[in-house]
Amino acid sequence: MSDIAKLQIGDNQYEFPLITGTENEVAIDIKTLRGATGGITTIDPGYKNTGSCQSAITFLNGEEGILRYRGYSIEELAEKADFLEVAYALIFGELPTKEQLDKFHSDIKDKSIVDDDIKKIIDAFPKNAHPMGVLSSLTSALTAFNPSSVNVDSEEDMYNSVVKILGKFPVLVAWTMRKKQGLPLNYGSKSLGYVENVLKMMFEQPNEEYVQNEVLVNALDKLLILHADHEQNCSTSTVRIVGSSHAGLFASLSAGISALWGPLHGGANQAVLEMLEAIKEDGGDTKKYMAKAKDKNDPFRLMGFGHRVYKNFDPRAKIIKVAADEVLKELGVNDPILDIAKGLEQEALNDEYFVKRKLYPNVDFYSGIIYRAMGIPVEMFTVMFALGRLPGWIAQWREMRLGKEPIGRPRQVYTGENYRAFKDISNR
Ligand code: CMC
Repeated sequence: MSDIAKLQIGDNQYEFPLITGTENEVAIDIKTLRGATGGITTIDPGYKNTGSCQSAITFLNGEEGILRYRGYSIEELAEKADFLEVAYALIFGELPTKEQLDKFHSDIKDKSIVDDDIKKIIDAFPKNAHPMGVLSSLTSALTAFNPSSVNVDSEEDMYNSVVKILGKFPVLVAWTMRKKQGLPLNYGSKSLGYVENVLKMMFEQPNEEYVQNEVLVNALDKLLILHADHEQNCSTSTVRIVGSSHAGLFASLSAGISALWGPLHGGANQAVLEMLEAIKEDGGDTKKYMAKAKDKNDPFRLMGFGHRVYKNFDPRAKIIKVAADEVLKELGVNDPILDIAKGLEQEALNDEYFVKRKLYPNVDFYSGIIYRAMGIPVEMFTVMFALGRLPGWIAQWREMRLGKEPIGRPRQVYTGENYRAFKDISNR
């Protein structure tokens, strides 16, 4: 294939170089388009065809259902690595040696104390505040308690910010849940692993000794790995674009959390469970809800189905489906919601509407079922997604800053009124 793309506009022809990625993905480099054409721009709502950056972090092939972090397949990572190893690889590019991992973990633990005044902010939220709103605010508030900005040219500064947020974020996650439940805001223990600590902080009761459940630790570890990065999705693009104005890491992450909250993105895991509950309450008639999902006059969508990039299957959903079965079996949970989920999945996989549009179950279709079995409240599901996605956001922010990317500032095609003279209020 030629490495030039030709564009004909009227009698003028323009040439643009093609860029080829390491997995042979080809993009037309239109950096010079406006200059060359005298101001012509492109339009692509939802950025369905637009690459915003070149990135070496995550490779995703939606047609073949491939997801790899730093070249390692999601299947292998979910089976053989732990979340902290994956976080290190995503952020710094290579899997850590034993020494690097031990140091990383120890540095994270050293930075995990959150300023006690944060508790005053938590106290000010009403009990019924959505945990995602609280988490986003608390992450932003961390900036106020850690005001010195990151010198991105200093490896040490960058490393310190990374371990700081990886240490403090799980505390905020746990406190967000505990505040809602009226439980004291606690800390983990330096003797525990990262994921073990998350669970301890979330579930420890003030009047009984906390006992770790290995099934839950493994299930959460896997879930967090599966969520750890997903290239330029809505929240990650948000983190990169906010950071591109040289806003700090914590402020950029706070914006990413808000983007993740929406039901078309990370909020889908909560929406899936609420949908399955509603179907159960309504007598379990999955066919009725399939019909609603297909009815163009009905805004209802089958939550947990479809994906912007996976048009074959979501490899994360495959792993999670197996994990959900294992966890429910090992915990001895017999959840009727799972039967409804399986019924819906079977019907959708055999339904022309879904097959034609290549709508398959996504990662969120099953994650909520596991979270529920673990005793995590539905409103916390998206918070758990944020905890998993944290290393991905950090890695993408770091890559963007180290790559000296320009400020993100899309163009538009203006479709409003042409110039008109100002009308005095008495003449309107
Ligand atoms: N139920 C029913 N119809 C659907 C669904 C669904 N879940 N998803 C897409 N469609 C239809 C849509 O109506 C459209 O039909 P038509 O061509 O007749 O107009 C067609 O499929 C294409 O949909 P689209 O909205 O143009 O696709 P998109 O790539 O813009 O949206 C999506 C992707 C994930 C937002 C969408 O599939 C959706 O809303 N799914 C439900 C929400 C969900 O599960 N989100 C979690 C995504 S995975 C976690 C993450 O990474 O954030």
